[in-house]
Amino acid sequence: MKKERVGIVGVGAYLPEKILTNYDLEKMVETSDEWIITRTGIKERRIASDQDAASDLGARAAEVALKDAGLTPEAIELLICATITPDMLFPSTACFIQRKIKAKNAVCFDISAACTGYIYALNIAEHFLKNGTYRNALVVGTEKLSAITDWKDRSTCVLFGDGAGAVVLKKVKQGGIISTYLGSDGEQADLLKIPAGGSRMPASLSTVEARLHFLKMEGTELFKHAVRLMAEAAEKALAQAGLTCKDVAYLIPHQANIRILQAVAKKIGLPMEKIYLNIEKYGNMSSASTAVALYETVKFKKIKKGDIIVLVAFGSGLTWGATVIEWAQ
Ligand code: ACO
Repeated sequence: MKKERVGIVGVGAYLPEKILTNYDLEKMVETSDEWIITRTGIKERRIASDQDAASDLGARAAEVALKDAGLTPEAIELLICATITPDMLFPSTACFIQRKIKAKNAVCFDISAACTGYIYALNIAEHFLKNGTYRNALVVGTEKLSAITDWKDRSTCVLFGDGAGAVVLKKVKQGGIISTYLGSDGEQADLLKIPAGGSRMPASLSTVEARLHFLKMEGTELFKHAVRLMAEAAEKALAQAGLTCKDVAYLIPHQANIRILQAVAKKIGLPMEKIYLNIEKYGNMSSASTAVALYETVKFKKIKKGDIIVLVAFGSGLTWGATVIEWAQ
């Protein structure tokens, strides 16, 4: 008998209207449009308004996904939010989203796995649905990275942007999630972090003066891990599904750097035409990146029923993971 799977039955996204181009950045730090494009593939990114926090972006994406799934907010039983830019350290951003969209019957919590957060959250939701604890789930990846970016640090400020993506999940009769592979390596935790503002180094006048409440990254070191681990995650998830790269219609990756994705494509033997790219428009949106990319592949009709797609991500932690899905919408 065919095993019952969990599938994506609704997708949504929200991108702030304000666009910050590489030319705008040229006026802020010692950089150039040419350097940013050739080293990263990014031309512009979105910046959320001062009034909006991660939950505002996430709630808008969630509303689009609920409409797409034909579900009311009250029907949602589980709401997981993946973010590294929560509105506050607590309560969870998921609870703020719950309040905004009026998903009053949902159990809500956040997960923190940086850019892989969305894939981790999908996997957690899948388990809850598979074992029958809940009948449906809303998974949101939302980031206001502009709030933790040091706009004086050219090595990081050119990379990030704001945005949100969301999906609704349910048990499905056709298609659905076939396999997921996740990994973590805390030995490399210092490669990308915000040093101050937590219990290790509480925020103080001196931490703010030293700009320790902003994101710090060792980009070149991360680059190497990203290529190796994204390739490994995609290959392991495909192997678990009994598939190979030849079966893949689209690889939908976390968008950190076009050169990382070119190297991953080469390593796993997948042509670049099969890799969905939107880094040019949005930069790296951490846990929102893969979520927005999935939304766009659906909206722009890049994938059709029966297609095998692979979501793959890598991020701070280190964390990495991939999910193989037979598209059924
Ligand atoms: N404009 C102009 N020059 C710059 C800029 C800039 N914005 N930034 C750095 N440079 C300079 C450096 O100072 C350096 O100059 P030097 O040679 O005189 O010292 C030179 O450019 C090269 O710098 P590198 O850091 O070696 O450049 P690299 O080719 O490694 O690219 C980058 C840097 C884009 C950050 C890349 O390393 C990268 O994408 N890393 C991976 C990021 C990633 O995957 N993050 C994890 C996911 S994100 C998450 O989890 C939230």
